Amino acid sequence: MILRTRGVSLAYGSESVLRDVSVGVDRGEVLAVIGPSGVGKTTLLGLLSLAVAPDRGTVELDGTDAWAAGESERLALRRRVGMVFQEASLFDASVARNVSYGLRVRRSWPERVRDGLRSLVGSPDAEAVDSAVREALDVVGLGDSLDRHAGSLSGGEARRVSFARALAYDPDVFLLDEPTSDLDPRNTAVVEDAVRRASQRGIGVVVASHDMHQAERVADRVAVMLDDGIAEVGPTERVFADPDDERTRKFVSGELVY
Ligand SMILES: Nc1ncnc2c1ncn2[C@@H]1O[C@H](COP(=O)(O)OP(=O)(O)O)[C@@H](O)[C@H]1O
Ligand SMILES: [Mg+2]
Repeated sequence: MILRTRGVSLAYGSESVLRDVSVGVDRGEVLAVIGPSGVGKTTLLGLLSLAVAPDRGTVELDGTDAWAAGESERLALRRRVGMVFQEASLFDASVARNVSYGLRVRRSWPERVRDGLRSLVGSPDAEAVDSAVREALDVVGLGDSLDRHAGSLSGGEARRVSFARALAYDPDVFLLDEPTSDLDPRNTAVVEDAVRRASQRGIGVVVASHDMHQAERVADRVAVMLDDGIAEVGPTERVFADPDDERTRKFVSGELVY
């Protein structure tokens, strides 16, 4: 697995949110983390992003325990994990500049980017940046919107641009928190298609969602979070059709109302 937790626990004060959670994602796979609101999905993504340390347990990227590593190594690992937040925070500039910003200013390059775009460091190669930007925008269906101003985008388009910005970094892993909340069906379909396309590039994708139908549409495997842990994890079709765990069965059938 490219990114995994082993036995992680996290509490906010005396409130245990995650207890002994072990879950991971492979390269080229979409894992959906589903569960009711407030169960701890966003908290789990925070741990997977290597931004938050667990109270107990380990978080490993490509076999390296991020919190046992030194700070500079952990920061380097963290750069290999792309995150798309619920709020698209674009700045006041063109779509192309928003997507290319990180590529232009980034000092420490993840290996795959560094190999491909080494020439950018020191002397930015505008053409290489352009093609990375164009490619990322194509994935979200905005390849013809390079010159549009961020302020002119609809909410759904802004979300797609922030997806493209994270994709342009060429991360090993992509974490998406409720990526289609508040989006209309058309923008939702584009984002879900982009999720699958990202995984087809070999990226490991984790999608946290309270929408189990989204999990059915995009995920290879699904992890069902209930109470303070993973009730069940397995291939999407199997978990929905024939869950092992009684609480999962109640949750996916709608019997268990939170
Ligand atoms: N920074 C925080 N401080 C205290 N409690 C928090 C904090 N963030 C989240 N929580 C609590 O932790 C629980 C899990 O939250 P969260 O991970 O956001 O769940 P989800 O994303 O599944 O809705 C909730 O009860 C929430 O109120
Ligand atoms: Mg959340």
